[in-house]
Amino acid sequence: MVTAVVPQGPKGGRVMGNMREFNRDTLGFVGRCAREFGDVVLTRFLYVPAYFLFHPEHIEYVLASGSKNFIKPISFKSPFFRRLVGNGLVTSEGDFWRRQRRLAQPAFHRDRTSAYGETMVAFTERALDSWRDGETLDAHEEMMRLTQAIVVKTLFGADVSDEADRVGRAMHLIVRPFASQATLKWILDNRLPTPGHFRFNRAVREIDRVVYHIIAGRRASGEDTGDLLSMLLRAQDEDGTQMTDRQLRDEVMTLFIAGHETTALTLTWAWYLLAQNPEAEKKLHAELEEVLGGRAPSVDDLPRLRYCEWIVKESMRLYPPAWGVGREAVRDCEVGGYRIPEGMQIFTFQWVVQRDARWYDEPESFRPERWREEVAARLPKFAYFPFGGGPRQCIGNSFATMEAVLVLSTIARRFRLRLADSHAVELLPAMSLRPKGGVWLKLERR
Ligand code: HEM
Repeated sequence: MVTAVVPQGPKGGRVMGNMREFNRDTLGFVGRCAREFGDVVLTRFLYVPAYFLFHPEHIEYVLASGSKNFIKPISFKSPFFRRLVGNGLVTSEGDFWRRQRRLAQPAFHRDRTSAYGETMVAFTERALDSWRDGETLDAHEEMMRLTQAIVVKTLFGADVSDEADRVGRAMHLIVRPFASQATLKWILDNRLPTPGHFRFNRAVREIDRVVYHIIAGRRASGEDTGDLLSMLLRAQDEDGTQMTDRQLRDEVMTLFIAGHETTALTLTWAWYLLAQNPEAEKKLHAELEEVLGGRAPSVDDLPRLRYCEWIVKESMRLYPPAWGVGREAVRDCEVGGYRIPEGMQIFTFQWVVQRDARWYDEPESFRPERWREEVAARLPKFAYFPFGGGPRQCIGNSFATMEAVLVLSTIARRFRLRLADSHAVELLPAMSLRPKGGVWLKLERR
């Protein structure tokens, strides 16, 4: 039970809060907030007062139409997070962010990213060569390894593969703390000189060294090697200015962090759901047979791999890798009839909104068909926002969707994945929505 504390706000009782309950069962807590208190709930998040918003119209206001009134939330100010991604696209604000977004945008243009499709398929095929019929593996671990290799290659290109591997290994060390249950606490308390923090700082220093070395080499050669870094290096503002080494480093780090775990999770949850929904799996196989007829997929096949794309969308609906998005009000404003004072934290949760029965029939069921155009068109705009929305919408959304569809179809062509045992997968809402202890699946060669 969620405990209502004090009624407040123009519309009456909506104040509740219990930090212990939040820490013990975060997803359950936010779900109960919506069920018991409605669309606007005043509570505490990360030890500070916060509004939770559950209605698509209110979310649209915060992320899109009224986005001028908000900046990123308090959690983004954590020195730990800053040390890692600096003032990159995810964390920066105002004119600086606008300029960086303008400079980075062309790197994500479809013409450019479709060239990465080949890498995505080739790396997946290579990983599959080591998969054995009957073997059991942790899909999360496998998908992380794969998407990490893909992002390193698409960011840095082939010529730096040794160094890129080193970045990959150091990054692996860094993202470990994200996986711990104590993530939020770790982020907030990270000034304490614990061995974990020592390892973290050493790994960031190592990555800085490698990334700066790659940037220097690339500047010296002036070569366009077709990767994201080349695009960022070449990007020029109208006044002719380019990014400094420090800015490049921050953007590279940001793209690395933002660009692989979320996609790995989308795939992990898609396998988990497919393993439990044989009908959907059958339809996927039929589509692969019809479109590919036994060959590997390519970017040109994407428009016809529609069912596969619906699977990806439906997986992100039920298990959104970004399970919540936060903001801080920079001036007084009003949302849904409630006064939001300057400085207030606001949180919206894909986890709750994308399972709301007001917008979805049988919201808990895995039904890829619901993404048929005529059905999807009836959804309120922000009833589905796995990539956020408004000006700060994910810059990598088509990159990620393309990657998820290509990887999923490449694997499904060669293997079926079955649940390895009946253990219930436990959710770990860390920085992203992870499976605690992995998702163990058994491979069946097709
Ligand atoms: C399924 C995969 C992905 C999901 C679910 C996802 C989710 C999100 C969300 C929800 C946001 C908005 C955060 C906010 O408004 O506070 C975001 C922003 C961002 N994402 Fe993604 N993302 C994914 C893949 C990627 C990839 C592949 C890249 C890059 C290669 C990427 C790079 C970024 C960047 C740079 C931002 C900040 C954009 C800005 O503020 O201008 N993401 N992502």
